[in-house]
Amino acid sequence: MIADADLAMDLMGHYSRLLQGPLLLMDETEQAIFRLRFEQHLADILRPLLPLYGHRPDFELWVYKFLEIAAQAYADRSGELRLLDLARVSEPDWFQQANMIGYVCYADRFAGDLAGVIKKIPYLQELGVNYLHLMPLLQTRPGANDGGYAVMDYRQVDERLGNMADLAELAGSLRSNGISLCIDLVCNHTAKEHTWARQALAGDPVYQAYYLMYPDRIMPDQYELTLREIFPDFAPGNFTYYPEIARWVWTTFNEYQWDLNYSNPAVFAEMLATMLYLANQGVEVLRLDAVAFMWKRLGTDSENQPEAHALLQAFRALSRLAAPGLLLKAEAIVSPTQLVPYLGRGEATNKECEIAYHNLFMVMLWSSLAERRVALMTHALQQIPAIPTGTAWTTYARCHDDIGWAVTEEDAAAVGLNGFLHRAFLSDFYSGRFPGTFARGATFQFNPKNGDRRISGSLASLAGLEAALEAGDSLAIELAVGRILLLHNMIIAFGGIPLLYMGDEIGLLNDARYRDDPDLAGDNRWMHRPYMDWELAQQRHDEKRIAGRIFQGLARLIQVRKQTPALHAAARTLPVWTHNEAVLGLIRESPRGRLLVLANFSDYQQFVTAHRLHELGFEGLSTDRLTGRSVESWHGVYLRPYASIWLA
Ligand code: GLC
Repeated sequence: MIADADLAMDLMGHYSRLLQGPLLLMDETEQAIFRLRFEQHLADILRPLLPLYGHRPDFELWVYKFLEIAAQAYADRSGELRLLDLARVSEPDWFQQANMIGYVCYADRFAGDLAGVIKKIPYLQELGVNYLHLMPLLQTRPGANDGGYAVMDYRQVDERLGNMADLAELAGSLRSNGISLCIDLVCNHTAKEHTWARQALAGDPVYQAYYLMYPDRIMPDQYELTLREIFPDFAPGNFTYYPEIARWVWTTFNEYQWDLNYSNPAVFAEMLATMLYLANQGVEVLRLDAVAFMWKRLGTDSENQPEAHALLQAFRALSRLAAPGLLLKAEAIVSPTQLVPYLGRGEATNKECEIAYHNLFMVMLWSSLAERRVALMTHALQQIPAIPTGTAWTTYARCHDDIGWAVTEEDAAAVGLNGFLHRAFLSDFYSGRFPGTFARGATFQFNPKNGDRRISGSLASLAGLEAALEAGDSLAIELAVGRILLLHNMIIAFGGIPLLYMGDEIGLLNDARYRDDPDLAGDNRWMHRPYMDWELAQQRHDEKRIAGRIFQGLARLIQVRKQTPALHAAARTLPVWTHNEAVLGLIRESPRGRLLVLANFSDYQQFVTAHRLHELGFEGLSTDRLTGRSVESWHGVYLRPYASIWLA
């Protein structure tokens, strides 16, 4: 291992070389800014790189290479984006503020193509959206491509959507309308049609070293002993044999998605360059896909390894040199104890990813709805460690993926449930098998080895709207709308960035059309990735229509949220017991104000006593921020089915 001090000195030498290289044509001020950042972030760059690559004799060369990539990206960055960097650095909590509202969609399903998305900006603004996550839009392999998560060219936009210039134009239009663009960077794997993989398949050892491949089953068998299966149903096992090279290739997801080998610094360099290239197109947030899997270690599940964190920290520190405004979002659907570290800890606090999906909260919302009890949610959320003050959760009720029942045995036992049985109950309930269920969903990836069953289905269908409409039952429709609004209320009231999934704002139901497309038919997650129904959306202003009630209800929640500074993500949301098993309590103590959110997860009226409100510190007269009405706490609080109040 090279001593840090020696290295730091050589790095200043590297800096002088950069002045002769990528920084040569920049003016003095621009060079000085880079130097400032260089000195500021040097330690954060080296700390994660040392354990990753510090043992290599060519370590210094690689460090120079990474710095060169960052310096080149800095030199290439437009004036407008440099200004954005300045704005972000001077207001580092911009993404934590209460006004943040996210929207997630496939560009083609929402608006045809990238140019179409520009035309829909007014629609997004109507909802109050200022963060737009467009699902994978880079060039994917032909045929089945896992919803775009099998990329064959990171520098081309899928030609059906437009080209790179269109993407840059879209990013600019969004920005000038106050909306930050987020796109996916599928960094754990490439499509097997990517040029690196093609060259590997042609036998080039340089590119074979970009992936993880083995001549026989000896290593794969060893690894398999402790690995999970992500798609046990349509892609069992974690390795695929390619006779043309007589190698077993590591494929965590589908056969056509090849895991990258990050122990090879060349792979890190390529991905760093890709990341900064996309940032320079005006992308403000990168959703880093499947980050938990980026480093493999024999004898473990090869998820959440310390090196996976080091990679993210190194990406972040190096990106500060070129594009300090860029945010990194971790897509790590893992247990809370494994998840929180993606937001940085120890020396890397606030220095890894800035945002991460709150998967547990999503799961608990659905669990509570099925059970009409909030005990498990309250307990499980109380166990989650606080996240660093400079980071935020993204909260969501539905996304493009299935729902996996992340309920631990310990959490279940703590509230008198059996984990296995509860997970089975939830799968039965949401696949529509449980007697009396309101939900219409489907089983995704049944794993006979552990009985695990995940769930597909759109928010509205899972919340009961599909069944209620079919039955023509107006009370059931009423309750379903209540559930849809409650789920949105919760992700909006939690703090962090709420992400609305396209179509949920007008109650789109499951869409069976995917079954007609042979490339999609095998993957029922497409049932909850519908095309936008613009005709239905026209009803959004009419509260006599269901779409209108949902849309307007949501728009009101969003307006209130934007005026509730207590929802700034820097303060923690604490679940509290309300002494009513059907009513969730969330409390926020922040210098920007106190807030108690009460939410009824049952289809009956519920009551929280005056005594309990006093114990929670809400005595006397409070205001319900949602309605503006004053609430006299000495009477206690009644909540209609699925209703919520925000007491300030
Ligand atoms: C992420 C995506 C999911 C995809 C997987 C593999 O989990 O959300 O849709 O299948 O990564 O890329």
